[in-house]
Amino acid sequence: MQIVKVKDRDKKQYMELLLIADEQVSMIEKYLYRGEMFALLDDDLKSLCVVTREGDGVFEIKNIVTVPEYQRKGYGQRLISFATDYCARSGSELYVGTGESPMTLGFYEKCGFKRSHVVKGFFTDNYDHPMYENGKRLTDMIYLLKRLPPGVD
Ligand SMILES: CC(C)(COP(=O)(O)OP(=O)(O)OC[C@H]1O[C@@H](n2cnc3c(N)ncnc32)[C@H](O)[C@@H]1OP(=O)(O)O)[C@@H](O)C(=O)NCCC(=O)NCCS
Repeated sequence: MQIVKVKDRDKKQYMELLLIADEQVSMIEKYLYRGEMFALLDDDLKSLCVVTREGDGVFEIKNIVTVPEYQRKGYGQRLISFATDYCARSGSELYVGTGESPMTLGFYEKCGFKRSHVVKGFFTDNYDHPMYENGKRLTDMIYLLKRLPPGVD
C-alpha cells in the first residue's frame, strides 16, 4: 500500500470519483488546483482526497472518496491518518465539512474529528441542484475539526 501525491496535470482524470463526494464540477474546481491531491494505492486505486491550506496553520479536507467496491475496508481511515500527519508538519488544525449525513459524520468522528461549527444554507446557496442524503435535502455544511499534534519534521 502506498499514498502518492497526484500532479496537477493528472487531477482532472479523477473527476468522476471526486463527484461521488461533491456533486458539482464547478465546486470541485474551486479547490482542485489550489489543493493537494493524494491517492491511496493498494495494487490499484482505492481512495483519493484533496487537502487545502485555508490560513496560517489551518488545513481542510475538501474531498475524500473511496472507490465504491472498496469502501468499508479501512482505506478512508488510512488516508485521513496520512492527511493528519501531513498537515501536522506545518499546521495545527484540520477541518472537514459535510452535509447532515449520519454515515459521513460517523466516519469523521471515528477518524478523530469533533463537531466545530455550521455554515447555514451552504448547499442551498452554492449548488445548482438540490442534493439529498437518505431522502433528506442537504442545506447546511457541518464542519468538524481535528487539532493536530506538533509535527515531527
Ligand atoms: C466516507 C468514505 C470516504 C469512507 O471511506 P471508507 O474507505 O469506506 O472508510 P473506512 O473503511 O476507513 O471506514 C472507517 C469507519 O468509518 C465508519 N463508516 C464508514 N463507512 C460507513 C458506513 N457506510 N456506514 C456506517 N459507518 C461507516 C465506520 O465506523 C468505519 O469503521 P468500521 O468499518 O471498522 O466500522 C466513503 O464511504 C465514501 O467514499 N463515501 C462516498 C463519498 C463521500 O461521501 N465522501 C465524504 C464527503 S463529505
